[in-house]
Order: sequence, then C-alpha cells, then structure tokens
Amino acid sequence: MKNILVTGGAGFIGSHVVRHFVNRYPDYRITNLDALTYAGNLENLRDIENKPNYRFVRADITDAPAMNELFQTESFDTVIHLAAESHVDRSIANPTAFVMTNVLGTVNLLNAARAAWDGAFENKLFYHISTDEVYGALGTEGIFTEKTPYDPHSPYSASKASSDHFVRAYHDTYGLPTVISNCSNNYGPYQFPEKLIPLVINNISHRKPLPVYGKGENVRDWLWVIDHAEAIDVILHKGEIGETYNIGGNNEWKNIDVVKLLCSIMDRKLGRNEGESAERITYVTDRAGHDLRYAIDSSKLQNELGWSPSIQFEEGLEKTVDWYLQNREWLERVTSGEYQTYYDEMYAS
Ligand code: NAD
Ligand code: TYD
Repeated sequence: MKNILVTGGAGFIGSHVVRHFVNRYPDYRITNLDALTYAGNLENLRDIENKPNYRFVRADITDAPAMNELFQTESFDTVIHLAAESHVDRSIANPTAFVMTNVLGTVNLLNAARAAWDGAFENKLFYHISTDEVYGALGTEGIFTEKTPYDPHSPYSASKASSDHFVRAYHDTYGLPTVISNCSNNYGPYQFPEKLIPLVINNISHRKPLPVYGKGENVRDWLWVIDHAEAIDVILHKGEIGETYNIGGNNEWKNIDVVKLLCSIMDRKLGRNEGESAERITYVTDRAGHDLRYAIDSSKLQNELGWSPSIQFEEGLEKTVDWYLQNREWLERVTSGEYQTYYDEMYAS
C-alpha cells in the first residue's frame, strides 16, 4: 500500500506513469497533480479516470501555499515528480517560465514534503524525474554515466540541472529521502507534437514540410516511453535512497535518419509512393546552442536493479505511427489553438 503523488501526470510521460501505477497496483492510491498547461491533457488518461485508486487535482507547483496545504491534508508517502516545462525551443523563447516551474516548483514540492514528513522519513520517497540533457553535449565519442559532471547548455537543461541540485541538496542537508533518474529522449503515444517525432508524423500526415534543424546530424538516444515508466517503477521500489540512475535506450539515431525512417513507415501505411514524404524534408535554421549528441550508459540500472528496454526502435516507431494514425482526433485537438500560434511563430522563417 502506497499513497503516491504524481506531478505532471496529464503530460506525455506522466500519463504513462499514472496509467502504469493505477493498473499495476490497485491497492496504491495515485493522486495526479497537474496545472493543465498547453502540454497537459486529461484525455490522455480517459481509460483510467474512473478507477477507484485514481484521482486528479488541478494545481500549480509554483503555488507554495497550495502545495503545503495538499501535503498537510493528504499524507502522501511517495512523490514522483514529473511536472515541468519540457521543450527546449520554448525555453529559448521564454526561459523564465522554466525557472518558475522547474526550479521554484521543485523547491516548493521539496519544502512541502519536508514539512509534512517532519523528520519521519521511514518509508517515504521523493523521486525526481530528470533528463540526460543536464550532462551537456557529447562529441562523436563518449557516453553519459551517473558520474559525468553537469554541463547544461539550454535554459531547459539549466533549469533541470538546477532542480536536480536542489533535490540532492535536500537529501544531503535535511536527510530527505530522495532518488533521481536521468532519462534520454522518450517517444510513443500521447507526446505533444512540438517534439520531433510526433511533429514529423503530424506533418507527414498533412503533406506539410518536415523541418530538420541544421544538417540533421544531431544524435539522440531514443527510449520507448513505456520502458521509461517500467524503469520508474523499478527504481521507486528497488532504488537506493540518495542515488541517481541513468535510463536510456542504447539506441542512438541521427535526426535525419529518424525522419527518413518515419517517412518510409508512413508512406507504406498511408499507401503513398515510397519516397513521396522524404521529398518534403526541409533543412531549417539550427536551434541556438544545439547539443550535438546525447548517449546514456544505463548499466547501473540494468546491473543493479535488473531493468532493460523491452522493444527495438523500429518496432516502437511502427507502434507510435499506428497510434497517431488511429488517434487523429487527439492530434487535431491538441494542434488547434495555442499550439498553432506557437508553430507559426517557430517555423515562420
Ligand atoms: P510534458 O511537457 O509532456 O508534460 C509536462 C506536464 O507538467 C504537463 O501535463 C503540464 O501540464 C504539467 N505542468 C507544467 N507546469 C506545471 C506547473 N507549474 N504545475 C503543475 N503542472 C505543471 O513533459 P514530458 O515530456 O512528459 O516530461 C515529463 C518529465 O520528464 C519532465 O520533468 C521532463 O524534464 C522529464 N523528461 C522528459 C523526457 C522526454 O523525452 N520527454 C526525457 C527525460 C526526462
Ligand atoms: P526534441 O524532440 O525537441 O527533443 P530534445 O531537444 O529534448 O532532444 O528534438 C529532438 C531533436 O530533433 C533535436 O536534436 C532537435 C531536432 N528537431 C528538429 O530537427 N526539427 C524539429 O522540428 C524539432 C522539434 C526538433
């Protein structure tokens, strides 16, 4: 029996984490706290919203009094903290929002947990979800381990690095029972189409240009989002307090190769001529400070806690494309309104 607060559970990864815990652990109580920003969508959780062990609270983690009150009244024993501003390009356009949610919001949650738990830390856990981007950028060689020094370059990764430091500081200073995991790029159903893979799927569907930054040579290590949710489960139950675990797919791809693979999968599934979609690949101005390569060494998690990724990238991408093609209304709804304005501004030049 656990009483778990998941923050950011209406977002991409958070909704998979909430679904995983609600379905797998019927006797755990799962509270999903989310502000429902542009990236939060309760439709992502329609299939589990009426389960007796699930409930939703709309609140903003930048609101310290609201966080304190919730922790005082709810007796949470575990926090899985995912709520964040998560998109690098938005962080370049508006860094302050990232400081507010990712840094201040995290500190508010740490304070609320510390006050509510009041030194009675047995069977308590504050689990902070972070990214491999805190480690900076690799050249063509090398791999991030848990010991790689932090070297963030974007306002997004700087804000996540800062939040990681606060989590460690609360462990080291106040003895708060914390654990952190740093994961590589996720892909799969319910990802907001501002991120590379769903954006390209959406644009291929609509026969729109496929924007590739710079020369498309940047490398990301892609992980199936449900494998991330599994890893979070394993770390939550078996991870050691105060430790950090890297999570990755051991699956490095150049952006241009991801886009080409998506084009060929979708041409086949949509009955188009092979090569039609790839003609719409358009090289656009590179992202400022664009990290060249990320690659994660997750051997600590694999060897010590026994987790490993379950599916190959090609299979995961097929499943992802199938999901987006079968859920066109979801895509239509999230690409209307605020997102359309953002898209027009981002890709105007
Ligand atoms: P997302 O943008 O899809 O979802 C973020 C969620 O947080 C949304 O539901 C949003 O409404 C909510 N939120 C934002 N600001 C909030 C606030 N002030 N108060 C309460 N809720 C708020 O993000 P994601 O891709 O699912 O990422 C989730 C977490 O995982 C983030 O912490 C991110 O840094 C981390 N992460 C993401 C990836 C990735 O590839 N997407 C990889 C590694 C780590
Ligand atoms: P993204 O999905 O934004 O994730 P992150 O920046 O956190 O890695 O981008 C993945 C890669 O794809 C990154 O190198 C930037 C690139 N990219 C494009 O080439 N075109 C696009 O339209 C987007 C959104 C990203």
